Amino acid sequence: MNEKVALITGGARGIGRALALSLAEQGWSVAICYRTSHQPAQETMATLLDMGLRAMAEQCDVSDPKAAARFVARVEKEWSRIDALINCAGPYHRVNLLEESVEGWLEMFDNNLHPVFYMSRAAAPGMKERRWGRIVNFSMANADQLVAQPNLTAHYIAKAGVLVLTRTLARLLASSGVTVNAVSPGFINTGSTPEAELAAMTKNIPAGYVGTVSDVVSAVNFLLSDQARYINGANLHLSGGWGI
Ligand SMILES: NC(=O)c1ccc[n+]([C@@H]2O[C@H](COP(=O)([O-])OP(=O)(O)OC[C@H]3O[C@@H](n4cnc5c(N)ncnc54)[C@H](OP(=O)(O)O)[C@@H]3O)[C@@H](O)[C@H]2O)c1
Repeated sequence: MNEKVALITGGARGIGRALALSLAEQGWSVAICYRTSHQPAQETMATLLDMGLRAMAEQCDVSDPKAAARFVARVEKEWSRIDALINCAGPYHRVNLLEESVEGWLEMFDNNLHPVFYMSRAAAPGMKERRWGRIVNFSMANADQLVAQPNLTAHYIAKAGVLVLTRTLARLLASSGVTVNAVSPGFINTGSTPEAELAAMTKNIPAGYVGTVSDVVSAVNFLLSDQARYINGANLHLSGGWGI
């Protein structure tokens, strides 16, 4: 088998799942991981297998550096390569900074920033060896503005950190034919937000509508393509003009 291999963290639901399905439609082998979404992960994997492709769904908490490295090693062992690493997992909680717990604070960095480092350093050697690779990281649309975020502070700082990590990895891996870029969604309807909340968000989006997972999928597909080979260290806003 010689089809390309993608590893998507948090690929059981939301944007990651949409990416998994899109890449499978293009013939990629797709490995996803999740923490607690066992049923959605199995359903996603079954859908991919029904398409006649290789698929893997692993329960792996990528905030654990050893677990992250093990997952990368398993995919490389079974499919002998990882061409694209998509660091999609990125949970958040809203809490006023002055009421944030130490656990809540650390959790945001552990799940949004640190996995990008753990997964990238594990996947990069294979990509370098094959002299081709794509790493796509998820930030958020206004993370490059470094504005005050009283109710989303740790998540926001972690997402700003993702941008610096993205540029740093891009610079380190460019000479090996590997690109590293970030995509920064604003408001994307993943099906889990109530309609009333979506309507309230719309007022603040210059484009006048909330984005869809397809908007993210098409941007990531482009970054994974050979057409994007010279785009490295970029931060692509996917926000209809919000947060820029
Ligand atoms: N949707 C938006 O409007 C929006 C806006 C700005 C930025 N983003 C970013 O875009 C990315 C995708 O967003 P989304 O809304 O599709 O995400 P999501 O639904 O909140 O999360 C996707 C999956 O990530 C998994 N995950 C979280 N932490 C993990 C960990 N430590 N190890 C393994 N899996 C983990 C979760 O799995 P379990 O369910 O098993 O825990 C979840 O199913 C995220 O990085 C998010 O921060 C999204």
